[in-house]
Amino acid sequence: MNPVALPVLYCCAICGNLVEKVHDGGGGLICCNVPMSAAGPAPAGADDIHAMELRPGDSGLVLTVGGGGHPATQRHYLRWAALYRPDLRLVARLLLGPGVSGSFAFPVNLKGPVLSIVHCSAHGLFYTIHEL
Ligand SMILES: [Fe+2]
Repeated sequence: MNPVALPVLYCCAICGNLVEKVHDGGGGLICCNVPMSAAGPAPAGADDIHAMELRPGDSGLVLTVGGGGHPATQRHYLRWAALYRPDLRLVARLLLGPGVSGSFAFPVNLKGPVLSIVHCSAHGLFYTIHEL
């Protein structure tokens, strides 16, 4: 059992749409005429290319993925990165894409626990919990 509260995202197995409920009214989600399945992020391993570090920078918080070396090709890249508070309030999301790699600055200043999530085009969703 995972003691970490994580946002639940839903993925369409047909077209790849990814949806996050901002309020759960209890109903199911349908895309391409089929029910969407829940897609929870997996923990990023410390030596994984999706491992995340979050540190204060000059203009906010800087998230570094895979030591700055996560691929950024047309076939393998980070689609987006997001920061959440422990109560799952979304703080900020950066839309990334092919050609964007290294470290990403979020224009926010947070203290305490922060959850980061990245969406890799080749490997799916990963999360890390940081203590700032
Ligand atoms: Fe990846």
